[in-house]
Amino acid sequence: SRPASTIARSDIIRDNPKNNVTDTIFSKLGTNLHQRPEHPLGIIKSAIFEYFEQSDPGKFKLFEDLYPVVTTAQNFDELLIPSDHVSRSDNDTYYVDENTVLRCHTSAHQAELLREKHENFLVIGDVYRRDTIDATHYPVFHQMEGVKIFDEGEQDVEAVREDLKRTLEGLAKHLFGDVECRWVDAYFPFTDPSIELEIFFNGEWLEVLGCGVMQQKILDSNFGEGRKAWAFGLGIERLAMILFDIPDIRLFWSEDERFLKQFKAGDLSSKFKSFSKFPPCNKDVSFWISDQFTENNLCETIRGIAGDIVEEVKLIDEFTNPKKGKTSHCYRIVYRSMERSLTDEEINDVQDRVRSVIVDDLGVELR
Ligand code: PHE
Repeated sequence: SRPASTIARSDIIRDNPKNNVTDTIFSKLGTNLHQRPEHPLGIIKSAIFEYFEQSDPGKFKLFEDLYPVVTTAQNFDELLIPSDHVSRSDNDTYYVDENTVLRCHTSAHQAELLREKHENFLVIGDVYRRDTIDATHYPVFHQMEGVKIFDEGEQDVEAVREDLKRTLEGLAKHLFGDVECRWVDAYFPFTDPSIELEIFFNGEWLEVLGCGVMQQKILDSNFGEGRKAWAFGLGIERLAMILFDIPDIRLFWSEDERFLKQFKAGDLSSKFKSFSKFPPCNKDVSFWISDQFTENNLCETIRGIAGDIVEEVKLIDEFTNPKKGKTSHCYRIVYRSMERSLTDEEINDVQDRVRSVIVDDLGVELR
């Protein structure tokens, strides 16, 4: 496996019917924000690693440069994700070709690391998901995966789950101080039982991670029989937004000094002070949808034209005309830059291009 920084456009954007990787996505590959010690994502990574080091010195090995282009076997099959699971659809996942994807979670590396006989490890990396657009969703984000295998003597699933809960509640307190935690039941194909941790923050319960006892089959077939393990996966942006008061996920990609200068390596106490309160500009667009229309495709198209000046895309009206058998959607697109004020001219130009490209590429009919 090679470093992501050596990736070439032709490696991932191919003339293949299944390929849905865009130039916008290609431009993010190899950035490795989590490897910048002064960046909020790098600060969280170090704090998590430090927590595991403090609790169990030398036990967990950290992988932070695993290649983000993986096989569908790694991303899905080896994790026992059923063949009809939604996450496999090309509406949700970036495909390079039928058998190759941009990893949609760091769990994609579990099986290979188990086969290499690693017993306790952490993996941090960029992950890719097609999605809608708002302040907390971006098609590239970062996850940290953790796996711990227990000694041969430990066979009690309940004890494994208790160790997992204790470990992750400890992590939450390491990051957030004395925060209230609660556990809710969850489902992941690769763990059983599966649970999610929520923390109480600013008057709300927020889901921060998914985890569980590793499916025995995954452990048996990749590592060897007769052991028990737990696994967890957490979203780094989510934690960073809560911890540092960062209001919009696009800020992580900003090269603006006014953002970057607010954070210091090793310092979890910074609170982000907004430097731009530039006004948002709303533009609505209404159209009759086509049969293949999806919101993810719409958002990808808009992101491809507007880049990071699009803050949100929301459906504000929908109706079906029974006589014509057609459905109309009205979307509100919110434009705003984190870094500068946008001119009417610039926004009108972007909006005009959005209107024409959605007709050409998504086959919708403007109203
Ligand atoms: N991969 C899961 C996700 O992305 C998180 C997870 C990791 C859950 C490991 C359980 C065990 O949502």
